[in-house]
Amino acid sequence: MTSNDLSLDTLLAQAGHFVDGETGAVVPPIHSATTYARNDRYEAADYIYSRNANPTGAQVEHVLARLEGAEEALAFSSGMAAISAFFDTVGSGAHVVAPRVMYHGAAELLRRLAERHDVEVGFFDPSQPGALDAAVRPGRTSVVWVETCVNPTWDVIDIRAAAGTARRSGAVLGVDATATPPVTLRALELGADIVFHSATKYLGGHSDLLAGVLATRRADERWEEIKAARTRMGGVLGAFEAWLLLRGMRTLHLRYERQAANALAIARHFEGRPGIEAVLYPGLESHPGHEIAKRQTGGSFGAMLSLLVEGGAEAAKRVATRTRLFVPATSLGGVESLIEHRASVEGPLSAVPANLLRLSIGIERADELIADLEQALA
Ligand SMILES: Cc1ncc(COP(=O)(O)O)c(C=O)c1O
Repeated sequence: MTSNDLSLDTLLAQAGHFVDGETGAVVPPIHSATTYARNDRYEAADYIYSRNANPTGAQVEHVLARLEGAEEALAFSSGMAAISAFFDTVGSGAHVVAPRVMYHGAAELLRRLAERHDVEVGFFDPSQPGALDAAVRPGRTSVVWVETCVNPTWDVIDIRAAAGTARRSGAVLGVDATATPPVTLRALELGADIVFHSATKYLGGHSDLLAGVLATRRADERWEEIKAARTRMGGVLGAFEAWLLLRGMRTLHLRYERQAANALAIARHFEGRPGIEAVLYPGLESHPGHEIAKRQTGGSFGAMLSLLVEGGAEAAKRVATRTRLFVPATSLGGVESLIEHRASVEGPLSAVPANLLRLSIGIERADELIADLEQALA
């Protein structure tokens, strides 16, 4: 069996079927060198300077490309560094389309692009079917940016349909798949041109590193521009973080399975509970995006959910201060469960309901997490 035949689970467990050719080590070394010697004809080898690329990063990129079915992948020093490099390729005067509710850091970046670089951004409502089609201007829109399910209301975007819309108008489709790592959804297979992850979240999985990933269907001109942007802006992933990311990814499939099972149990428990206005989770059959999510994830609905608490912002914040297991902190995707009053974090421009609590579900026991939320709500 060659490494090309391996399942994603086996590929992950073996960090890309890695065995060091020289030493037999089953864990890749951390190449901390920032610079690489030329040969006696003064020719550069594969590596020159580690802001361009480094061997530890290259190993993690190799595994990421395989996971996504991509021609190439690039690792960045954070998710936002990756998103910034992607949008650095958007020329002034361009028209970009993105969801009105989305990761607020990316929304802020788009607003700045609009203010400073004459880029027109059309925000569409991801909860409304047909809204993306209506926002795209055929022949004019150059980039469609979506999230697989939007953070933090978890409206599901039909990636195959979005790809059709983008293709028909001659635009590139970039997909933020942070909430649905490639063990559950492969955005390039669904028609995306470029897939993005904040690897700080599920890919790393332990809340101990910042990283971002872009993976591309084709290593085309735009991709070369993104690579050049990474070098120019200095957003490359450091060797230690690349090593840590690869280590975290070895258990991604196991972590994600447990986290998603916990999330489903929690969502089912709180749906319809007095004091809870709504549970926003695509795994619930009542969720408007349930069928699309089922189709594009193969039936795993992820480990992010939000609760709308009766009593408004103050009641929601009170719950977030009373949990004992859920840690009141931002971020998501780690093995520990987190709770967050999202509107407080996003500030005055937030489109998020004031009574929304975002939960990132970890690998603890579901019954203990449920009991913790129950006592915080009581
Ligand atoms: C959906 C999503 N996209 C992008 C980002 C940005 O990633 P990073 O914090 O690694 O820069 C985040 C971070 O919270 C996120 O949740």
